[in-house]
Amino acid sequence: MCGIVGYVGYKPVTDILMDGLEQLEYRGYDSSGIAVMCEKEIRVYKAVGKLQNLREELKGHENEFNSSTMGIGHIRWATHGAPTVLNAHPHTCNCGGLVIVHNGIIENYKELKEELIKTGCIFRSETDTEVVAHLVAKKYDKCKNLTEAVRLASKEIEGAYALCVMHKDCKQKLVITKRNAPLVVGVGINEFYAASDVPAIIKHTNKAVYLNDNQIATLTPEKMELIDADGNKIEPKAEILPWEPVALSKMGYKHFMLKEIHEQPDVIRNILVGKLHAPDENIVLDEVKLTKETLKNLNRIQIIACGTSLHAAMIGKYLIEGFCGIAVDVEASSEYIYRKTVTDEHTLVIGVSQSGETADTLTAIKQSKARGSHILIITNRPDSAMAREADSLIPVNAGIEVSVAATKSYIAQLMAFYLLALYMSEVKESMAKTDLTSLKAELMILPQKIEQILAHKEDIQNVARVYANTKDFIYIARGINYPTALEGALKLKEISYINATGYPAGELKHGPIAMLDDTMPVLSILMNGSVYEKLLSNSEEAKARNARMIALTNSKDEKLSHLFEHIIRVPDVPEIFSPIIAMIPLQLIAYYIAEFLGKDVDQPRNLAKSVTVE
Ligand code: M6R
Repeated sequence: MCGIVGYVGYKPVTDILMDGLEQLEYRGYDSSGIAVMCEKEIRVYKAVGKLQNLREELKGHENEFNSSTMGIGHIRWATHGAPTVLNAHPHTCNCGGLVIVHNGIIENYKELKEELIKTGCIFRSETDTEVVAHLVAKKYDKCKNLTEAVRLASKEIEGAYALCVMHKDCKQKLVITKRNAPLVVGVGINEFYAASDVPAIIKHTNKAVYLNDNQIATLTPEKMELIDADGNKIEPKAEILPWEPVALSKMGYKHFMLKEIHEQPDVIRNILVGKLHAPDENIVLDEVKLTKETLKNLNRIQIIACGTSLHAAMIGKYLIEGFCGIAVDVEASSEYIYRKTVTDEHTLVIGVSQSGETADTLTAIKQSKARGSHILIITNRPDSAMAREADSLIPVNAGIEVSVAATKSYIAQLMAFYLLALYMSEVKESMAKTDLTSLKAELMILPQKIEQILAHKEDIQNVARVYANTKDFIYIARGINYPTALEGALKLKEISYINATGYPAGELKHGPIAMLDDTMPVLSILMNGSVYEKLLSNSEEAKARNARMIALTNSKDEKLSHLFEHIIRVPDVPEIFSPIIAMIPLQLIAYYIAEFLGKDVDQPRNLAKSVTVE
């Protein structure tokens, strides 16, 4: 969701900016632009659509920017105003001397705009961002100091922002700042990079400084100067990023999504390292900073998340309630933040987020933190804003996920919940030791079972081919796999744009059954266990309405072929682990259908990987 890059140093800047933007493409965007410091002026180039269009736009202008060594770039995911060239960033002040890129939302832009218009500012776009360009320029005109101008302007701005600013008078100076939006500085030798995320800089350097909210950095080729909102100097703390550039390659797979689906066995192995050594040993979860006494007495947990992370949270509820007998509420962050919620210092609040930057979840976490709750964050980005709010942090270590559709990060989140629920039940002694031992033994062999599914992925591809042209899809399940049905449907709609819905199968007869006829595929997630027979009856009901029935099952029952037109078989596991095993074929079905339809699998339309606006 919008991405910014900046560079100041000695190398030709355009390639660095374009490459950086390409690495941020996964965030989702619909237009792009760059601004480069040329000999006499700053030049701005913009285009609507994919980065390739911006590359075309740059062609023929090389002599204008070939010797330039400073610039800023942006990919825009439209919020205020349509995706047009005028609305694309960078935005400029009246004279074009000051240029900015912005990620986030300026909440008081209307008020600021009215005031700025009165002072002669001419607005060319419909964006909230343009007010910042005019505002900083006004401040600069008075103080003639770009850092000070950004500092003064940021005092008047409300909302979320990461900003990169340059001025034609400051030939080798970038000023950057942030509030509630990600921004990282890459530290090179006689050069600095700025970016919304690590992939844009990791090729060049693994040394980075993360800005805290309201800090302002001034970057020149020689040095980085950091101040707080009051102008006090701060010593920048550089850290070494634990990232390999190779993680950003498709490694021979056609899409990142397919590669990430195949990484899932190793993702599970990774998260178990150091936490589960042997089935008869206790889980080690030093990341949980609550005392054992507090955990024993805990009687309420609130989990907040969005999208796929919300589905992982719903399964987390089943696990924690089932293993530990603690009441768990799960809520979409976007709903949670706008009602009177009841959490306090006696509630454990768990935030789940792949990116760790999702605006709604971040706000919810901050609200709960202010009420005194202990905040436990489950995220794939231990360098994220949410991680910085955490009292306890469980990094899921799935490695960077480039595809917008979450796959391996979901499985990693589920693993975090299995480990947490097992750990809590050991602390609370809420389960028999023998049961715990056999569950842990099963957990450890999940990677091999996923590998068995992946080895037969062509069978799933064949089923996907049959249904690639359907308009609607229904996924049904019960119990712990109801969230699996929701997640399977979400995957399909995200990347193929087919209307797919997940239902708890018992609800079919309360309404959705009216939709069933011989054009409607119904995929039944039929896993051995407590609700198997119930779901079988619900599947019969759907079949009786002529729906096209597909089973995803670990049952060996041969008679299922009378009821189901297609059967996708997966290895058997205890019911409690079936959400992991069931999810792999559902990811593959979504992937293959989208691929058959020729969709942009890794960057589906309208979606962003990191949703940093509410
Ligand atoms: O980074 P988060 O896990 O907080 O993101 C939440 C959702 O935006 C995300 O899961 C979204 O639904 C994905 N596109 C799912 O594939």
